Amino acid sequence: MKTTLTFPIHKTKNSKLPETDFSNLVFGRTISDHMFVADYKNGEWTDLSVEEYKPLELNPANATLHYGQSIFEGMKAYRTSDGKISVFRGDANWARLNESAERMCMPTLPEEIFMEGLMQLLELDRDWVPTANGASLYVRPFMFATDDYIGVKPSETYKFMIFTCPVGMYYSKPVSVKVETKFTRATEGGTGYAKTAGNYAASLYPALQAQKAGYDQLLWTDGKNHSQIEESGTMNVMFKINGKLITAPTHTGTILKGITRDSVIQLAKDWGEPLEERFLGIKELEEALKSGDLEEAFGTGTAATIAHIERIHVNGTDYYLPEKGSDAFSNRVLRELDGIKYGELPDPHGWIIKI
Ligand code: COI
Repeated sequence: MKTTLTFPIHKTKNSKLPETDFSNLVFGRTISDHMFVADYKNGEWTDLSVEEYKPLELNPANATLHYGQSIFEGMKAYRTSDGKISVFRGDANWARLNESAERMCMPTLPEEIFMEGLMQLLELDRDWVPTANGASLYVRPFMFATDDYIGVKPSETYKFMIFTCPVGMYYSKPVSVKVETKFTRATEGGTGYAKTAGNYAASLYPALQAQKAGYDQLLWTDGKNHSQIEESGTMNVMFKINGKLITAPTHTGTILKGITRDSVIQLAKDWGEPLEERFLGIKELEEALKSGDLEEAFGTGTAATIAHIERIHVNGTDYYLPEKGSDAFSNRVLRELDGIKYGELPDPHGWIIKI
């Protein structure tokens, strides 16, 4: 993308790089040196800059703190063997940010600001992109309301920011999940498809109950009847039953339109894998678990990448899934995606920008 956009870049004199232990990264705990900032006021985006990562000053009446106009994205940048940085599907994250923005009555962001802010930030913090196998730089673009106002109405001012974190694996081992049939993540007409803070806040209590019972995550079911699988708290989910890949469709507006989900679907289509974008009923899941027809279950997400599911709790019973061999679909698709992201395999869909 050609750009005429220029903005100030203030490099910090106090880099945290020397004191950062890249061999011991806890997901989301280590933040890189700089952040990109843009403000929305008087109907336009202005005051763009890259500056040192530092605390924000907020008034107690800040609208986000009270009414939750807050959206975010998650994406990753990778170190390739030729020392370059590869950014995976940034355009898709930009498009999804704007879908979320519209749902939450927030201003959309021009692609040029998103991409140029991202590129300048990554250029300045390129030494923060880890080199270790499987590690990456998690990128967190986000937007929130900045009006100081008590009263329920859309804010007139906003901040868009990007910061980054060097990360290892989000899940270091296969996960166990519990089918949730009491609490609801999203209903039709709600905000389920938007990547908005409130969706995650509402999921915390039920997820905590499941974690106390020994599960890593929930498998959310539809809000109407709790009879079909929607997604997990940190990722979309896919099942392979009798050779067919099944994943929930997104047309109900209750499912996050995962970019890893979309990439896996594209690869499955490229490979001629039988694929059904449809809801999987709990009963069908239970039968497939009982009969052994469930060959694979895995999550897909930017943070989670491809997360194997090893245990599913449904209707009072724990079912265990055997470990997957290297020719399992989930492992093949993980290798293919990693190969594309780390620049070791061709990128036929143009998913990568290298800088
Ligand atoms: C992501 O995968 O990027 C997310 O935002 C999910 C969160 C668990 C980190």
